[in-house]
Amino acid sequence: MKMEQFKKEIDAGLSSTEKTLPSKYFYDKKGDALFVEIMHLDEYYLTRAELDIFKNQTQQIINALALKKGTYFELIELGAGDGLKTKELIKELTKQNYKFDYVPVDISQNALNKLEQTLTIETPKVSIKKKQGDYFEILESLKENNSPKIILFLGSNIGNLSDEIASTFISKLSDTLNPNDKLFLGVDLIKSKEIVLPAYNDSRGITKAFNLNLLERINNELGGNFDINNFKHQPEFTETEGICRSYLVSSKKQNVYIQALNKSFHFEKGEKILMEISRKYNSEIIDKIIKNSNFQIQENLKDNQNYFANYILNRV
Ligand code: AVI
Repeated sequence: MKMEQFKKEIDAGLSSTEKTLPSKYFYDKKGDALFVEIMHLDEYYLTRAELDIFKNQTQQIINALALKKGTYFELIELGAGDGLKTKELIKELTKQNYKFDYVPVDISQNALNKLEQTLTIETPKVSIKKKQGDYFEILESLKENNSPKIILFLGSNIGNLSDEIASTFISKLSDTLNPNDKLFLGVDLIKSKEIVLPAYNDSRGITKAFNLNLLERINNELGGNFDINNFKHQPEFTETEGICRSYLVSSKKQNVYIQALNKSFHFEKGEKILMEISRKYNSEIIDKIIKNSNFQIQENLKDNQNYFANYILNRV
């Protein structure tokens, strides 16, 4: 992680009129572990729903990707995490003798190392070329060779970007790819707040700890003095808008000093820090996001409860 950039982004976020912190910084060692716990929570339906698609529609996925047995390709996963779902696909591709390298990309080096360890044991024949960086940073490296590419962008990871940034990213991604390359995009679908909100406010308080961990990270790495007991975790969601926003709310009037920035930040009682957006989708929103790109929707696969969708986008 680049310390200067981290400092700059934290400063900018806490200095803005509506305070915010970038959720991409959730993922240090503790954050990675908390996110793995989140993925197994009863309330966090997203992972189970997408895993249902990977487990029960593996052959449909392979068919939709129009892979050729004799042709080498790269299977590139943006935000690979623990690779839980992708492993289902990798196992089947290996069984059917497809020729490919798996290229997991993640902001967390720690997550990548762990993923490599488990894959070496579970699928020893697959060659792994891991890449550390954020989504935008790795775009350039996709141009390094001309092999056919399948980009996996799963888990509704795209939902942590604003629609504007998501659309810019998708269009840049399509520019770096060749015709017939594919983007396999996993998105959480818009549904009632009775289902969405508990996923971001679990009864065991893991999601709360996941959010507060960024304040702890600022304390540890930038010499901040956030008292995490003075912040309440509060996600908000309306079905009409389809965006879940997770806030930390200051429970009292307070100042927080950050040594590395040599600066104090004032919080009013009830003042919020926007920690994360988790966008939910429908086909109109997907259309809007890919409008300026060279991608065309080929088909989509849904889980048995219609909670989650995997879109197969073809680079035209
Ligand atoms: C990684 N991302 C898609 C998760 C989400 O659902 O927005 C991160 C997360 N935040 C709280 N719980 C899970």
